[in-house]
Amino acid sequence: MNTITRSIVEMRGVNKSFHGVRALDDVDFTVGVGEVVGLLGDNGAGKSTLIKILTGFLKADTASIRIDGVDHQFRNPQEARNAGVETVYQEQALADDLSVARNLFLGKELVRKVGPFRLLDDGRMRRESEEMLRDLRLAVDPDKPARDCSGGERQGICIARAIHFEAKLVILDEPTNALGVAAVKRVLDLIRDLKARGIAVIFIGHNLYEVLEVADRAVVMVRGKKVVDVATRDTSVGELTELLMQRSGIGG
Ligand SMILES: Nc1ncnc2c1ncn2[C@@H]1O[C@H](COP(=O)(O)OP(=O)(O)OP(=O)(O)O)[C@@H](O)[C@H]1O
Ligand SMILES: [Mg+2]
Repeated sequence: MNTITRSIVEMRGVNKSFHGVRALDDVDFTVGVGEVVGLLGDNGAGKSTLIKILTGFLKADTASIRIDGVDHQFRNPQEARNAGVETVYQEQALADDLSVARNLFLGKELVRKVGPFRLLDDGRMRRESEEMLRDLRLAVDPDKPARDCSGGERQGICIARAIHFEAKLVILDEPTNALGVAAVKRVLDLIRDLKARGIAVIFIGHNLYEVLEVADRAVVMVRGKKVVDVATRDTSVGELTELLMQRSGIGG
Protein backbone atom coordinates (compact mmCIF):
# COMPACT_ATOMS: atom_id res chain seq x y z
CA MET A 1 0.00 0.00 0.00
CA ASN A 2 2.58 2.52 1.06
CA THR A 3 4.55 3.23 -2.05
CA ILE A 4 5.55 6.78 -1.17
CA THR A 5 6.79 6.44 2.40
CA ARG A 6 7.33 3.18 4.24
CA SER A 7 5.40 2.89 7.49
CA ILE A 8 7.05 1.87 10.71
CA VAL A 9 3.63 1.67 12.40
CA GLU A 10 0.39 0.79 10.68
CA MET A 11 -2.64 0.41 12.94
CA ARG A 12 -5.99 -0.22 11.22
CA GLY A 13 -9.52 -0.47 12.56
CA VAL A 14 -8.58 -0.19 16.21
CA ASN A 15 -11.59 -0.59 18.53
CA LYS A 16 -11.59 -0.71 22.30
CA SER A 17 -14.37 -0.45 24.86
CA PHE A 18 -14.09 -0.39 28.65
CA HIS A 19 -17.27 -1.72 30.28
CA GLY A 20 -19.35 -0.68 27.30
CA VAL A 21 -17.72 2.76 26.98
CA ARG A 22 -16.08 3.24 23.59
CA ALA A 23 -12.49 4.43 24.24
CA LEU A 24 -11.39 3.93 20.62
CA ASP A 25 -13.75 3.98 17.66
CA ASP A 26 -12.35 2.47 14.46
CA VAL A 27 -9.04 4.34 14.57
CA ASP A 28 -6.42 4.16 11.81
CA PHE A 29 -2.99 5.42 12.84
CA THR A 30 0.29 5.30 10.95
CA VAL A 31 3.84 6.53 11.48
CA GLY A 32 6.36 6.72 8.67
CA VAL A 33 9.99 5.67 9.02
CA GLY A 34 11.85 8.45 10.84
CA GLU A 35 8.70 10.55 11.10
CA VAL A 36 7.71 12.55 14.21
CA VAL A 37 3.96 12.35 14.80
CA GLY A 38 2.25 14.52 17.40
CA LEU A 39 -0.76 12.82 18.99
CA LEU A 40 -3.13 15.39 20.42
CA GLY A 41 -6.49 15.54 22.11
CA ASP A 42 -8.28 16.37 25.33
CA ASN A 43 -8.18 14.29 28.50
CA GLY A 44 -9.82 10.96 27.90
CA ALA A 45 -9.65 11.23 24.09
CA GLY A 46 -8.02 7.79 23.80
CA LYS A 47 -4.36 8.67 23.15
CA SER A 48 -2.83 6.54 25.90
CA THR A 49 -5.20 3.67 25.15
CA LEU A 50 -4.08 3.66 21.52
CA ILE A 51 -0.42 3.62 22.57
CA LYS A 52 -1.01 0.92 25.20
CA ILE A 53 -2.56 -1.27 22.51
CA LEU A 54 0.40 -0.62 20.23
CA THR A 55 2.90 -1.54 22.94
CA GLY A 56 1.17 -4.60 24.37
CA PHE A 57 -0.05 -3.12 27.69
CA LEU A 58 -3.64 -3.55 26.53
CA LYS A 59 -5.44 -5.81 24.11
CA ALA A 60 -7.75 -4.22 21.54
CA ASP A 61 -11.23 -5.55 20.84
CA THR A 62 -10.26 -5.50 17.17
CA ALA A 63 -7.11 -4.18 15.48
CA SER A 64 -4.61 -4.94 12.81
CA ILE A 65 -1.12 -3.81 13.76
CA ARG A 66 1.96 -3.88 11.57
CA ILE A 67 5.41 -2.81 12.71
CA ASP A 68 7.90 -2.28 9.93
CA GLY A 69 5.70 -4.28 7.58
CA VAL A 70 5.26 -7.27 9.89
CA ASP A 71 1.98 -8.24 11.59
CA HIS A 72 2.32 -8.02 15.36
CA GLN A 73 0.15 -8.54 18.40
CA PHE A 74 2.50 -7.77 21.28
CA ARG A 75 1.51 -9.55 24.48
CA ASN A 76 3.60 -7.28 26.71
CA PRO A 77 5.85 -4.22 26.51
CA GLN A 78 9.01 -6.35 26.54
CA GLU A 79 7.93 -7.96 23.28
CA ALA A 80 7.41 -4.47 21.86
CA ARG A 81 10.89 -3.44 23.03
CA ASN A 82 12.39 -6.49 21.39
CA ALA A 83 10.75 -5.39 18.14
CA GLY A 84 12.36 -1.95 18.48
CA VAL A 85 9.53 -0.01 20.11
CA GLU A 86 10.62 1.92 23.20
CA THR A 87 8.03 3.75 25.31
CA VAL A 88 8.99 6.63 27.57
CA TYR A 89 6.72 7.91 30.33
CA GLN A 90 7.41 10.75 32.71
CA GLU A 91 7.45 8.34 35.66
CA GLN A 92 9.51 5.82 33.79
CA ALA A 93 9.70 2.27 35.06
CA LEU A 94 13.40 1.96 35.79
CA ALA A 95 14.92 -0.54 38.19
CA ASP A 96 15.24 1.90 41.08
CA ASP A 97 17.84 -0.06 43.05
CA LEU A 98 20.19 -0.40 40.09
CA SER A 99 22.63 2.22 38.83
CA VAL A 100 22.00 4.41 35.82
CA ALA A 101 24.56 2.31 33.89
CA ARG A 102 22.78 -0.96 34.71
CA ASN A 103 19.46 0.58 33.70
CA LEU A 104 20.90 1.59 30.35
CA PHE A 105 21.71 -2.07 29.72
CA LEU A 106 18.62 -3.53 31.42
CA GLY A 107 17.70 -6.82 29.74
CA LYS A 108 20.72 -6.52 27.45
CA GLU A 109 23.53 -6.72 30.02
CA LEU A 110 27.11 -7.05 28.84
CA VAL A 111 28.89 -10.10 30.22
CA ARG A 112 32.44 -11.38 30.29
CA LYS A 113 33.64 -14.92 30.53
CA VAL A 114 35.91 -15.94 33.38
CA GLY A 115 36.73 -19.61 32.92
CA PRO A 116 33.38 -21.42 32.87
CA PHE A 117 31.56 -18.43 34.40
CA ARG A 118 29.70 -15.56 32.78
CA LEU A 119 29.93 -12.42 34.89
CA LEU A 120 28.39 -8.99 34.40
CA ASP A 121 30.93 -6.73 32.75
CA ASP A 122 30.28 -3.71 34.97
CA GLY A 123 33.42 -1.93 33.83
CA ARG A 124 32.46 -2.01 30.19
CA MET A 125 28.80 -1.14 30.85
CA ARG A 126 29.99 1.82 32.90
CA ARG A 127 32.38 3.04 30.19
CA GLU A 128 29.80 2.63 27.42
CA SER A 129 27.18 4.34 29.59
CA GLU A 130 29.42 7.37 29.99
CA GLU A 131 29.69 7.54 26.22
CA MET A 132 25.93 7.12 25.67
CA LEU A 133 25.16 9.88 28.18
CA ARG A 134 27.84 12.20 26.85
CA ASP A 135 26.49 11.67 23.34
CA LEU A 136 23.15 13.12 24.42
CA ARG A 137 24.81 15.81 26.54
CA LEU A 138 23.18 14.35 29.66
CA ALA A 139 25.04 15.22 32.83
CA VAL A 140 24.06 12.13 34.80
CA ASP A 141 26.46 10.08 36.92
CA PRO A 142 26.24 6.48 35.59
CA ASP A 143 26.95 5.14 39.10
CA LYS A 144 24.07 6.77 40.91
CA PRO A 145 20.99 4.67 41.64
CA ALA A 146 18.05 5.26 39.33
CA ARG A 147 15.85 6.21 42.30
CA ASP A 148 17.88 9.40 42.68
CA CYS A 149 17.15 10.51 39.10
CA SER A 150 14.67 13.27 38.27
CA GLY A 151 11.79 12.70 35.84
CA GLY A 152 13.76 14.43 33.09
CA GLU A 153 16.86 12.34 33.75
CA ARG A 154 14.75 9.19 33.59
CA GLN A 155 13.47 10.20 30.17
CA GLY A 156 17.04 10.89 29.08
CA ILE A 157 18.10 7.40 30.18
CA CYS A 158 15.29 5.77 28.23
CA ILE A 159 16.06 7.83 25.15
CA ALA A 160 19.79 7.02 25.39
CA ARG A 161 18.84 3.34 25.64
CA ALA A 162 16.56 3.62 22.62
CA ILE A 163 19.31 5.18 20.54
CA HIS A 164 22.01 2.74 21.67
CA PHE A 165 19.91 -0.34 20.94
CA GLU A 166 18.68 1.15 17.68
CA ALA A 167 14.97 1.42 18.40
CA LYS A 168 12.88 2.04 15.31
CA LEU A 169 10.28 3.97 17.21
CA VAL A 170 10.22 5.92 20.47
CA ILE A 171 6.89 6.81 22.08
CA LEU A 172 6.77 9.72 24.51
CA ASP A 173 3.48 9.92 26.43
CA GLU A 174 3.17 13.45 27.79
CA PRO A 175 6.92 13.82 28.31
CA THR A 176 6.75 17.53 29.06
CA ASN A 177 3.95 17.42 31.65
CA ALA A 178 5.06 19.15 34.81
CA LEU A 179 8.47 20.09 33.41
CA GLY A 180 10.07 23.52 33.64
CA VAL A 181 10.85 25.62 30.57
CA ALA A 182 14.47 24.46 30.27
CA ALA A 183 13.52 20.81 30.71
CA VAL A 184 10.83 21.09 28.03
CA LYS A 185 13.42 22.49 25.66
CA ARG A 186 15.67 19.51 26.39
CA VAL A 187 12.91 17.03 25.61
CA LEU A 188 12.18 18.81 22.32
CA ASP A 189 15.92 18.71 21.52
CA LEU A 190 16.01 14.99 22.32
CA ILE A 191 13.12 14.43 19.91
CA ARG A 192 15.05 16.28 17.20
CA ASP A 193 18.07 14.12 18.07
CA LEU A 194 16.03 10.96 17.58
CA LYS A 195 14.69 12.22 14.26
CA ALA A 196 18.18 13.12 13.08
CA ARG A 197 19.15 9.50 13.74
CA GLY A 198 16.25 8.23 11.64
CA ILE A 199 14.21 7.04 14.62
CA ALA A 200 10.47 7.63 14.42
CA VAL A 201 8.75 9.35 17.34
CA ILE A 202 5.18 9.49 18.62
CA PHE A 203 4.91 12.54 20.85
CA ILE A 204 1.75 12.75 22.97
CA GLY A 205 1.04 16.14 24.39
CA HIS A 206 -1.49 18.79 25.23
CA ASN A 207 0.55 21.83 24.27
CA LEU A 208 0.00 22.52 20.57
CA TYR A 209 2.98 24.87 20.37
CA GLU A 210 5.38 22.22 21.66
CA VAL A 211 3.99 19.48 19.45
CA LEU A 212 3.94 21.59 16.28
CA GLU A 213 7.50 22.73 16.94
CA VAL A 214 8.91 19.23 16.44
CA ALA A 215 6.25 17.12 14.71
CA ASP A 216 6.05 16.37 10.98
CA ARG A 217 2.41 15.39 11.31
CA ALA A 218 -0.35 16.05 13.81
CA VAL A 219 -3.10 13.57 14.67
CA VAL A 220 -5.98 14.80 16.79
CA MET A 221 -8.34 12.53 18.71
CA VAL A 222 -11.72 13.52 20.09
CA ARG A 223 -13.70 11.07 22.23
CA GLY A 224 -12.07 7.97 20.77
CA LYS A 225 -12.17 9.06 17.15
CA LYS A 226 -9.38 10.38 14.96
CA VAL A 227 -10.66 13.70 13.64
CA VAL A 228 -7.53 15.28 12.15
CA ASP A 229 -4.46 13.82 10.47
CA VAL A 230 -2.42 16.57 8.82
CA ALA A 231 1.15 17.51 7.91
CA THR A 232 2.19 20.21 10.37
CA ARG A 233 3.45 22.41 7.56
CA ASP A 234 -0.15 22.53 6.28
CA THR A 235 -1.70 23.66 9.55
CA SER A 236 -1.21 26.02 12.48
CA VAL A 237 -1.83 26.25 16.20
CA GLY A 238 -4.81 28.51 15.50
CA GLU A 239 -6.39 26.12 13.02
CA LEU A 240 -5.91 23.06 15.24
CA THR A 241 -7.27 24.88 18.30
CA GLU A 242 -10.38 25.82 16.36
CA LEU A 243 -10.85 22.29 15.05
CA LEU A 244 -10.43 20.84 18.52
CA MET A 245 -13.01 23.21 19.97
CA GLN A 246 -15.52 22.55 17.17
CA ARG A 247 -15.14 18.79 17.33
CA SER A 248 -15.31 18.76 21.12
CA GLY A 249 -18.54 20.73 20.89
CA ILE A 250 -17.05 23.71 22.72
CA GLY A 251 -17.09 26.22 19.92
CA GLY A 252 -18.98 26.94 16.63
N1 LIG B 1 -8.18 0.72 32.28
C1 LIG B 1 -9.28 1.43 32.00
N2 LIG B 1 -10.49 1.07 32.49
C2 LIG B 1 -11.60 1.74 32.20
N3 LIG B 1 -11.64 2.84 31.42
C3 LIG B 1 -10.46 3.27 30.90
C4 LIG B 1 -9.22 2.59 31.17
N4 LIG B 1 -8.23 3.25 30.51
C5 LIG B 1 -8.82 4.27 29.88
N5 LIG B 1 -10.16 4.29 30.10
C6 LIG B 1 -11.11 5.25 29.53
O1 LIG B 1 -10.88 5.32 28.13
C7 LIG B 1 -10.95 6.66 27.67
C8 LIG B 1 -9.65 7.06 27.01
O2 LIG B 1 -8.62 7.18 28.02
P1 LIG B 1 -7.10 7.48 27.68
O3 LIG B 1 -6.34 7.26 28.91
O4 LIG B 1 -6.71 6.72 26.49
O5 LIG B 1 -7.17 9.03 27.34
P2 LIG B 1 -5.98 10.04 26.98
O6 LIG B 1 -6.30 10.63 25.65
O7 LIG B 1 -4.68 9.39 27.16
O8 LIG B 1 -6.22 11.17 28.09
P3 LIG B 1 -5.15 12.06 28.93
O9 LIG B 1 -4.80 13.22 28.05
O10 LIG B 1 -5.96 12.50 30.11
O11 LIG B 1 -3.98 11.19 29.29
C9 LIG B 1 -11.34 7.49 28.87
O12 LIG B 1 -12.73 7.65 28.87
C10 LIG B 1 -10.90 6.66 30.05
O13 LIG B 1 -11.68 6.91 31.18
MG1 LIG C 1 -3.04 9.71 28.46
